Amino acid sequence: MKAPRPDSRQHSSPRLTFAVSSIFFLIFLCIITSINELRFEGLVKLGWSALSNNFYTCFTNTSIANNISTSPAPELRILLGILTLPDQYQRRHFLRLIYGTQQVPLSAQVDVKFVFCNLTKEDQKVLVALEIMRYNDIIILNCTENMNKGKTYTYFSSLPEIFSGTADDPNPPYHYVMKADDDIYIRLNSLVESVKPLPREDLYYGYVIPCSSMNPFVHYMSGMGYLISWDIVEWIRTSDVPVNHTEGPEDRIFGDWMRYGQRGKNRYNAKWSMYNFPVPATKCTHELWPDTVAVHLLKNQEKWIQTLKYFNVTNNLKPSKLYHIP
Ligand SMILES: *[C@@H]1O[C@H](CO)[C@@H](O)[C@H](O)[C@H]1NC(C)=O
Ligand SMILES: *[C@@H]1O[C@H](CO)[C@@H](O)[C@H](O)[C@H]1NC(C)=O
Ligand SMILES: *[C@@H]1O[C@H](CO)[C@@H](O)[C@H](O)[C@H]1NC(C)=O
Ligand SMILES: *[C@@H]1O[C@H](CO)[C@@H](O)[C@H](O)[C@H]1NC(C)=O
Ligand SMILES: *[C@@H]1O[C@H](CO)[C@@H](O)[C@H](O)[C@H]1NC(C)=O
Ligand SMILES: *[C@@H]1O[C@H](CO)[C@@H](O)[C@H](O)[C@H]1NC(C)=O
Repeated sequence: MKAPRPDSRQHSSPRLTFAVSSIFFLIFLCIITSINELRFEGLVKLGWSALSNNFYTCFTNTSIANNISTSPAPELRILLGILTLPDQYQRRHFLRLIYGTQQVPLSAQVDVKFVFCNLTKEDQKVLVALEIMRYNDIIILNCTENMNKGKTYTYFSSLPEIFSGTADDPNPPYHYVMKADDDIYIRLNSLVESVKPLPREDLYYGYVIPCSSMNPFVHYMSGMGYLISWDIVEWIRTSDVPVNHTEGPEDRIFGDWMRYGQRGKNRYNAKWSMYNFPVPATKCTHELWPDTVAVHLLKNQEKWIQTLKYFNVTNNLKPSKLYHIP
């Protein structure tokens, strides 16, 4: 750096020059450290703001400064378990796109996991393991793939053990656990908004069955996707009501558990924000509309595309010289 010109300051002394130089030297050191701490692409992407942020941290290394980059713990944690089969590679790939491009507010956390039973083929051991290495979003339960023989029971009752963390981990690990089909499109933000005001305990949330009913206390919630509070998950693990009734149509049986065990005192009917994809001449649904938490029965690509288009999911695509999508 340049020393002050002799005539610019009458009282410039060697001592002052030394002090000024030292300060600039410190700043220089700090910048170098900051740059080292930042990864190169981060620096390029965030540019000056990242640099100055780090720079700030450098000079104000207080507890507040240390906390600048760590966002507050989310106030609402939801586990979304999508029950599927090991061989459904394409489906998982597609759903990762669907959920990976949704953002929930920082105050909430929605963990999407794919859930299935024991692997049975040699190629699965390689392919599923690779998926886990890349995405870490798979739960393999200790069961044999089955329909109506207790996969739902195994799912819920295994969770407390699977997520039993250390004392530092949040307790409960999730406030709510959802079980969903792999042909449903869930809008995570709408789900969070809809669940936020509801009780954190003894909650049973979903699309009421039968479809003509709007009373959540009569029967059960459709298997398209329902959500329960963590205390019910723990109850399923410990009570002998569910374990004695595991065979039969899973979601109806779930309703029986709630009734026999007198659980789910808080219930919420998410109809008509959850509904089946409208096909002409089907009853008990309606056209796609903005106030939507989930659309079910997306059995083919055409229905998915129609739904995704309706909800403008690609509107936030950033313009770039790399591509052009009309
Ligand atoms: C702040 O100081 C603490 C201990 O004095 C150190 O462990 C931490 O790495 C420093 N943080 C930064 C961002 O320099
Ligand atoms: C950072 O913030 C969290 C909660 O927001 C707090 O528990 C923690 O003690 C803070 N860390 C420091 C170093 O102050
Ligand atoms: C898995 O389930 C089988 C039979 O259902 C049981 O014998 C075995 O102990 C279980 N294994 C683990 C690790 O829980
Ligand atoms: C599932 O696989 C594990 C080993 O990976 C085995 O211990 C367990 O018995 C199997 N469970 C069933 C129900 O087959
Ligand atoms: C569950 O089944 C066991 C054995 O069949 C029986 O002893 C127990 O009373 C049953 N519990 C309930 C709540 O039905
Ligand atoms: C999608 O975008 C169109 C055009 O901007 C708008 O009219 C429509 O309301 C949006 N749909 C939803 C569900 O937000």
